[in-house]
Amino acid sequence: MSFRVQPAAPARPNRCQLFGPGSRPALFEKMAASAADVINLDLEDSVAPDDKPEARRNIIAAIGDVDWGSKTLCVRINGLDTPYWYRDVVDLLENASERLDQIMIPKVGCAADVYAVDALVSAVEAAKGRKKRISLEVIIETAAGIAHVEEIAASSPRLQAMSLGAADFAASMGMQTTGIGGTQEDYYMHREGQKYWSDPWHWAQTAIVAACRTHGVLPVDGPFGDFSDDEGFIAQAKRSATLGMVGKWAIHPKQVALANSVFTPSEAKVTEAREILAAMEKAKAEGAGAAVYKGRLVDLASIRQAEVIVRQAEMIAGQ
Ligand code: COA
Ligand code: MG
Repeated sequence: MSFRVQPAAPARPNRCQLFGPGSRPALFEKMAASAADVINLDLEDSVAPDDKPEARRNIIAAIGDVDWGSKTLCVRINGLDTPYWYRDVVDLLENASERLDQIMIPKVGCAADVYAVDALVSAVEAAKGRKKRISLEVIIETAAGIAHVEEIAASSPRLQAMSLGAADFAASMGMQTTGIGGTQEDYYMHREGQKYWSDPWHWAQTAIVAACRTHGVLPVDGPFGDFSDDEGFIAQAKRSATLGMVGKWAIHPKQVALANSVFTPSEAKVTEAREILAAMEKAKAEGAGAAVYKGRLVDLASIRQAEVIVRQAEMIAGQ
């Protein structure tokens, strides 16, 4: 391994991020009562331009008034290419209570985008004497974002999480699809009269996971638009979990339980991981570096793999 040790990502559950428009305050109590680990109150694309000022006021009031329990509470601001984003940041940090944890920056294209928000957040925090240091999360959803994904992951000590935003990503890349995540009709291999569907999001997801893991940031899968397709959601979430992502967005409350079920390591997986750790302990005591577990090779790398699952389960259990 490189002598630079891989930093740990923030030790907090991020299995599901539930979104709701800032212009629909009637949803806020329901979001707070949900089983999502993270709440994203939106000022961006689910809010029409004329509704932005009112949505800001709704969100600022709700941050203080609603009981958000132990959830991570985040507001998605508008992109840096709009006239709205600076007022989002300034109004939020001048007026919202200390309960606010995080700001989400959409459509990040380079490290300097994060730097700009970090600078503004730092100035308002200092001016208002805010005690809690606001953290940041970003969405990779443009060609520039994925091209600069590693410098973005390294951009700020405030950065805690990074999501793939499939819809804007597809638009920016010029992909011929209107689907938000999941299987795409025209993306398949063909052999002997059979179609085999492949995953067009795989590369972007893997690039995000690698950038995040290098810099101690949580990699998260973004939205799955067809909220009537539970099986499609589960399949997409399982692929993301297998690739190293820690959670997925919910754009409808029914997706929260689906995400939690996939991103909470199953009892069987945790038991197997503990058995592998025990088998390796035994091997170590006997002076061996490798052992056989259920007919498979396990070695020192297996310890690290098993520890990922056990740590995740313990962190979720202890939240
Ligand atoms: N969070 C919490 N509760 C929600 C919710 C949300 N995001 N969206 C809907 N609900 C509630 C509804 O109020 C309704 O509650 P009720 O049973 O007490 O009446 C219930 O869940 C069922 O809602 P449903 O009628 O199926 O949905 P809808 O037509 O009201 O809204 C959406 C559907 C997709 C418009 C809405 O879920 C939504 O705005 N999602 C988030 C969109 C967003 O933030 N996008 C930006 C990120 S991509
Ligand atoms: Mg988007």
